Amino acid sequence: MLYQLSEEHLAVQQAAREFAQQQLLPGVVERDNTMTYPTEQVRGMADLGFLGMMVDPAYNGGGMDTLSYVLAVEELSKVDNSCSVIVSVNNSLVCSGLEKYGNEAQKQKYLPKLASGEWIGAFCLSEPEAGSDATSQRTTAVDMGDHYILNGTKNWITNGGSSSVHLVMAQTDADKGHKGINCLIVEASWEGVTIGAKEDKLGIRSSDTTTIMYNDVRVPKENRIGEDGFGFTFAMKVLSGGRIGIAAQALGIAAGALELATNYAKEREAFGKPIAQHQAIAFKLADMATEVEAARLLVYQAAQAKDRGLNYDTLSSMAKLYASKVAMTQTVEAVQIHGGYGFVKEYHVERLMRDAKITQIYEGTSEVQKIVLSRALLKGELYPPMAMTSHVEHA
Ligand code: CAA
Repeated sequence: MLYQLSEEHLAVQQAAREFAQQQLLPGVVERDNTMTYPTEQVRGMADLGFLGMMVDPAYNGGGMDTLSYVLAVEELSKVDNSCSVIVSVNNSLVCSGLEKYGNEAQKQKYLPKLASGEWIGAFCLSEPEAGSDATSQRTTAVDMGDHYILNGTKNWITNGGSSSVHLVMAQTDADKGHKGINCLIVEASWEGVTIGAKEDKLGIRSSDTTTIMYNDVRVPKENRIGEDGFGFTFAMKVLSGGRIGIAAQALGIAAGALELATNYAKEREAFGKPIAQHQAIAFKLADMATEVEAARLLVYQAAQAKDRGLNYDTLSSMAKLYASKVAMTQTVEAVQIHGGYGFVKEYHVERLMRDAKITQIYEGTSEVQKIVLSRALLKGELYPPMAMTSHVEHA
């Protein structure tokens, strides 16, 4: 597929690139070191419409397509992945989930504030003992007639302390397994909601990742998304879209590392010439560029499949699986090209290397993506069946 970007796409890409260079780059190292939440930068992204890019303008959104969103996340991620994950979770897990599966009253109440960035949202699925095994929810939502009583603990929640609205998956009827799970819209200010301390992380250090405890929280039934028992399907469907955002983040990290490594290799001299003139480095850069472009094709393809109304479950898993692997390998190579300078915090590549790791973990680990992909492949959902078998048939 040869992707073609429209004038609108190019404008979004340019706006995100400029914002990242002008507003995110200054201070990104300091925020990372001190784990300082990027309050001002989030406000700037909200002003540019980056927090509700795909939401219908009727709810204060930007009305853009998924490819525009991907282009913005890619550019932001070249510089500051704490900011790009805030954008990604708010857009694709929270706003898109509410817009697609929420009822009109829920959309009217929550979307305008979330899409404009006045409020930030969090997606609360993972638990201390339910990460990849997401059907094993221990958080409970007991049905009390007109409301639920919510109890439980959610772990590693992006935007945990900075969000005003949580989409919380909880088990209502354990006998029904994953078909007894509901998704409830919970406001952070409600009685019984407690936010844990900010996690001290390897990467995306200034983003706000916390545990959230729910203790006898009264949630009105009107805040349940979809029919009774729709919560797990909701989480899976929403994560398929979310994975495109994280794939775009991984792509941005890899592309950023390539750009930094290329510039450095042209400037840095060793053995009498720029290191880019040594084949060992030049070939590394060639491999990196090829892999970044392959990741870009997968990510843009998944976004365009979503925009065209096609099934994108496996395409988003492939995009995330591959782009996150490329982000990891490319940032390691970029550090290697920088040599000793790559190992110190005054150079951006070490931060990108640390940030890359989480793209192989959150919104479904690489192993989870392989579960999704291998199951689809084995069920014959990926490719049309061939007549050819492994065994050679002699005429
Ligand atoms: N759309 C709709 N339904 C889906 C679906 C999809 N994409 N994927 C699965 N389902 C349905 C299945 O059809 C099945 O329903 P039926 O029983 O009716 O057929 C049901 O969900 C259960 O699916 P499985 O039988 O496949 O369940 P499983 O336990 O074997 O495996 C899994 C499921 C793919 C491993 C899933 O649990 C999963 O994706 N786990 C990872 C969870 C995850 O991504 N967590 C990230 C946390 S969020 C986060 O990181 C946010 C953040 O803050 C950054």
